[in-house]
Amino acid sequence: MNERTRVERKTTTSITQAKGETKLSLSTAYDAWMGALVDEFVDAILVGDSLAVVVQGYDTTLPVTLDEIVYHTQMVVRGTQRALIIADLPFLSYETGRDDAIRSAGRCIKEGGAQAVKLEGGRSVAETVASLTAAGIPVVGHLGVQPQAIHTLGSLEPRDDEEAASNLLADAKALEQAGIFALVLELVPASLARSVTQQLTIPTIGIGSGADCDGQIQVFHDLFQLRDSLAEGLATPFCDAGTLMRDALRHYATSVRGES
Ligand code: KIV
Repeated sequence: MNERTRVERKTTTSITQAKGETKLSLSTAYDAWMGALVDEFVDAILVGDSLAVVVQGYDTTLPVTLDEIVYHTQMVVRGTQRALIIADLPFLSYETGRDDAIRSAGRCIKEGGAQAVKLEGGRSVAETVASLTAAGIPVVGHLGVQPQAIHTLGSLEPRDDEEAASNLLADAKALEQAGIFALVLELVPASLARSVTQQLTIPTIGIGSGADCDGQIQVFHDLFQLRDSLAEGLATPFCDAGTLMRDALRHYATSVRGES
């Protein structure tokens, strides 16, 4: 690519500097085509462990492996030029200790080509976050509903009580202190998300957490209504591409049969 057409990728600094200046848009993507489609419009792309559900067909995010996240991150990186690429650390790829976390995150950066990783958890992972950032790996935190904890929590019901709110605030501050450069808030009550956003110096990225976060993230399939069972409270579809595609397929099949 010649110099004149080269596009600069967003950086973790451009993401943090957006706080208070402009709202950030993020989406997930899982392959080169999806990445290329969203690249023009979003600030950052998450190769989410939601891959397990929306691409691989599992009921939870737990089964996706590190190899698979690395593989899909490579595809997204190949399809994109300007968005920051964040790889999601899968379940049990970082909870078993600092060295495992650095090895797992290191693979996402070195083999996958991501610029940052995301992991779930609060104070319990703060030391891990500090080790990763000390090793030169930028980290996004993830609080509120944490899908990797489904078996410990029994359900992914959002919590809206005082204890949960004070824990979330303490977790957010511990993660910020440990060096995260952005924080995903999933299904956090809007007033609490606003308060966390005001109290942190790094951007908050909401999903189902109200309009006052510094940015928003959506799962690719939910933006276009490409899955039938929309995740409750999470999905904000902007068109019904699922219906359009089914209509096109019906038209295709009937025209092949000579019926239209
Ligand atoms: O894996 C994912 O898609 C996520 C988003 C819902 C934030 O973690």
